[in-house]
Amino acid sequence: MLGNVSGMSAPTYELNDGTTLPAIGFGTYPLQGEDGITAIQSAIEVGYRLLDTAVNYENEAEVGEAIRRSGIPRDQLQVASKVPGRDHGDAVASVRGSLERLGLDYLDLHLVHWPNPSVGKYVDAWRGLIEAQKEGLVRSIGVSNFSAEHLERIIDETGVTPSVNQIELHPYFPQAVMRDVNAGYGIRTESWSPLGKRQAPFSEPTVAAAAEKYDVTPGQVILRWHVELGSLPIPKSADPARQAQNLDVFGFELTDDEVAAISGLAEPDGRLFGGDPDTHEEM
Ligand SMILES: NC(=O)c1ccc[n+]([C@@H]2O[C@H](COP(=O)([O-])OP(=O)(O)OC[C@H]3O[C@@H](n4cnc5c(N)ncnc54)[C@H](OP(=O)(O)O)[C@@H]3O)[C@@H](O)[C@H]2O)c1
Repeated sequence: MLGNVSGMSAPTYELNDGTTLPAIGFGTYPLQGEDGITAIQSAIEVGYRLLDTAVNYENEAEVGEAIRRSGIPRDQLQVASKVPGRDHGDAVASVRGSLERLGLDYLDLHLVHWPNPSVGKYVDAWRGLIEAQKEGLVRSIGVSNFSAEHLERIIDETGVTPSVNQIELHPYFPQAVMRDVNAGYGIRTESWSPLGKRQAPFSEPTVAAAAEKYDVTPGQVILRWHVELGSLPIPKSADPARQAQNLDVFGFELTDDEVAAISGLAEPDGRLFGGDPDTHEEM
């Protein structure tokens, strides 16, 4: 259920472990260096309260610095990072490394970045996150790019259900099956590359028509579509005006027909770069 809307700030979702997340977050890849800090600080200042980073984005230090420069109290921000494939054997140490680079003493959310099934260690990585949560290093734990089979295995073997599964999701790849699988476990779906990145479907007639009808931009229509699906998008923008625009999607609603029409833009293989978690691996 979405919580109340207040001003420009995003409503929140309650997760299956009792914690909450804003209904939209800020993606930080590939923001790095001084320009990256400026962009992330700007995102915080325009109102994002959930920041998505990862060890493999090599920008955790920049995220931490942007938080400090923003002056926003730590407890008003949520920070999420991810365990890379090479750290599956010691996820607790990986989380500690993330905290050190971020300059924080806890993370709000930590995910196993990719399952890397041929390596066969994603259950170990999940056990490590369960331990990190017990040690108080991270409030909430989840996964990214996990299929139904991967989810079933970690839940069966540990008895612990992830709070979040962050997956590729955009109008050309709406992930109906995985959204149902996640929902069946009470797992919140997060959408990566929510705008479709390089292939942003901004000029699709269904998107353009809704943008005109509601007097918003095509990007806002697409991000609102994620909200209507109940998935939490994490758009990235280095531009303050686009950052603010992307966050401002709680003042209008799409009809069921509009949501269905945008979902109907699905392509048989709509993935951006062939990131099938059964075969695509990242270390
Ligand atoms: N878990 C995973 O495996 C995984 C994989 C990929 C990504 N991610 C996460 O997902 C986040 C978002 O994904 P993404 O960056 O790949 O794709 P995205 O957010 O769908 O798209 C970002 C691109 O769209 C542009 N853009 C943003 N807002 C716009 C607007 N309103 N109008 C026009 N263009 C706009 C940005 O350019 P400007 O910066 O110039 O605005 C950027 O080029 C990443 O930052 C990362 O945190 C996770």
